[in-house]
Amino acid sequence: FHAEDGIRDCVASRGLGDVYKRQYLLSASMFIVGIKRLSSPRTAPSGNRLGAQGMLLAVLVTLMKLQSEGIIGWELIVGGLAIGSLIGYLMATRVEMTGMPELVALFNGFGGAASALVGLSEVLKRISDGVPEPGVELYAIWIAIGLSALVGWITLSGSLVAMMKLKGGFYIPFSKKDDRGRSKWVSFPTWGPPWLNYVKVLMLLSSIALIGMTIQEPEDKTWIYSLVATSTLLGILFVLPIGGADMPVVVALLNSYSGIVAAFTGFIFSNIALIISGSLIGASGLILTRIMTKAMNRSLANVILGGFGATTESIAADTSNKNYKSGSSDDIASLLEFSENIIIVPGYGLAVAQAQHSLKELLDILTNQDKKVIFAIHPVAGRMPGHMNVLLAEANIDYELLLDLDQVNEKFSQTDVSIIIGANDVVNPAAKLDKNSPIYGMPILDVEKSRSIVVIKRSMNVGFAGLDNDIFYNEKTLMFFGVA
Ligand code: TAP
Repeated sequence: FHAEDGIRDCVASRGLGDVYKRQYLLSASMFIVGIKRLSSPRTAPSGNRLGAQGMLLAVLVTLMKLQSEGIIGWELIVGGLAIGSLIGYLMATRVEMTGMPELVALFNGFGGAASALVGLSEVLKRISDGVPEPGVELYAIWIAIGLSALVGWITLSGSLVAMMKLKGGFYIPFSKKDDRGRSKWVSFPTWGPPWLNYVKVLMLLSSIALIGMTIQEPEDKTWIYSLVATSTLLGILFVLPIGGADMPVVVALLNSYSGIVAAFTGFIFSNIALIISGSLIGASGLILTRIMTKAMNRSLANVILGGFGATTESIAADTSNKNYKSGSSDDIASLLEFSENIIIVPGYGLAVAQAQHSLKELLDILTNQDKKVIFAIHPVAGRMPGHMNVLLAEANIDYELLLDLDQVNEKFSQTDVSIIIGANDVVNPAAKLDKNSPIYGMPILDVEKSRSIVVIKRSMNVGFAGLDNDIFYNEKTLMFFGVA
C-alpha cells in the first residue's frame, strides 16, 4: 500500500523496472485474492475493496513510471485522478439497483475505449517516431495493437448501444422541449434482419484484413483509421438486433471483451498488471456469460444472432376464460399463521419496489413465531446476476437462508406455503411443459409442489419474457395485488 515509499526504498538497491514489476505483481495478486473472496457474500465486500485497492496501486505505479520517464507531469496525473474519481463516485452512489446493468455497460465501454485509445496512440507514436524494420517480436506487437483496436472499438460502441437499449432510448440534447420541459426522447430500436449476420461476418473479415494491412504498411494511417471505423460499426451492429431480455448476457460478454482488450494492450507495453487483470476480467466475464445463458436455456449463438424478449414494458396477459383467486392481507396472514415451512421467492418486482427491508420485517415476525423460512434464489431472478443476493444482503437477511435453485427445488414438496414476491418468469411452468414457449427448457423454481402458493404483484401483467403464467390460475394459488 505504500507504493511510493516502497519504490523509493528499492530504487537505490535495484533497477526501477524490477521495482515496478514487483508492485504490479502485488496488485495482480490483490485482484486474484479479491475475486476469490467475491465467491461468498460474507467475504465479498472485503474482496471488492481488495480489488479496488489493487487497481489503485496499479494505477499509481503506472503513473509514477510514466512520470519518471518524463511522459506525463503531476498536474495531469492529479487532475485525471480527481476528475475520474469524482465522476465514478457520483455515478456509483446515485445509481438505482435496477439501473446497475446500464452502469456496468457504460463502465465496460469506458474500459474498451481506454484500451483502444492506448492502442491507437501507440500506432500514431510509432508512425511519428519512424517505424523500425519489422522482426518477429515487432509483428507480435503490431498484431496486439490491431486486435486491441478491433476488440476495443467493438466494446465501446457495443456497450454504448447496450446502455441505451437498457435505458429504453436516449434524449436528444438541445432538442425542442416538450410540455414537461424534457428534450426529445428517442426509443432505441431492436433491428436485425437475417442478412445482417452476413454483413457482420464480412465486416469482421475486412477488419482482420485491415489489421494485416496495418502490419504491412504501418506508416500509412489510413489502415488504422479504417480499422477504427469498421470495428465501431461492427460493435453497433453486434448489439442492435439483440432484444431486451438478452441484454444482460450481452453486457456480460462485453465485460469479458473489455478484459480481453486490456490484456492485448498489456502485451503492447509488456505490462504484466494489465495482462493479468485483463485476462481475469476476460475469463470471468466469459464464465458469467455461460452461467447466464445456461440459466436461460439459451446458446450464446442464439442470443447473439437475435432472439426473444425485445420488450421491457409490462403488458397485460389474456386472462379471459381463466379463473384466479385473489385474497386480502388478512387471508395471507391467517394462511401463514397455520404454516410451518415457508419459502419466499423474490423476483424483479421486489427489486423495483425496494421491498427487501419490509421482507426482513416479515422474516423476523415469522421466525419469532418459530416458523422455518428460507429464500429460493433463481440464477436469473431480477435483471442481473446476483441481483437478489445483493438486495437481501443489504437488508441483513442471513446468507445461510438463501438457497440456489438446485438446493431448494427438492424442498418445495415439504413446504406449506411459497410466497412469490414480484417474480414471474422464474416460476413459470411453461418452461417445463410448453415446447413452443420461448422460455422452454429454462430451469424454474418448482413452486407448484408446495401445499399453497401466494403471489404478490400489482396486476395479472406478464413478466420480462412477456408470457402468461399458469401458476397464477393454479387452484392452490392466492393472488394478492399490490406493490411488493
Ligand atoms: P419477471 O418475470 O420480470 O416478473 C416480475 C414481475 O414483478 C412482473 O410480472 C410484475 O408484475 C411484478 N412487479 C413489477 N413491479 C412490481 C412491484 N413494484 N411490486 C410488485 N410486483 C411488481 O421477473 P423474474 O421472475 O425475476 O424473472 C427475471 C426475468 O429477467 C427472466 O425472464 C430472466 O430471463 C430475465 N433476465 C434476467 C437476467 C438476470 S442475470 N437476472 C438476465 C437477463 C434476463 P406486475 O406488473 O403485475 O406487478
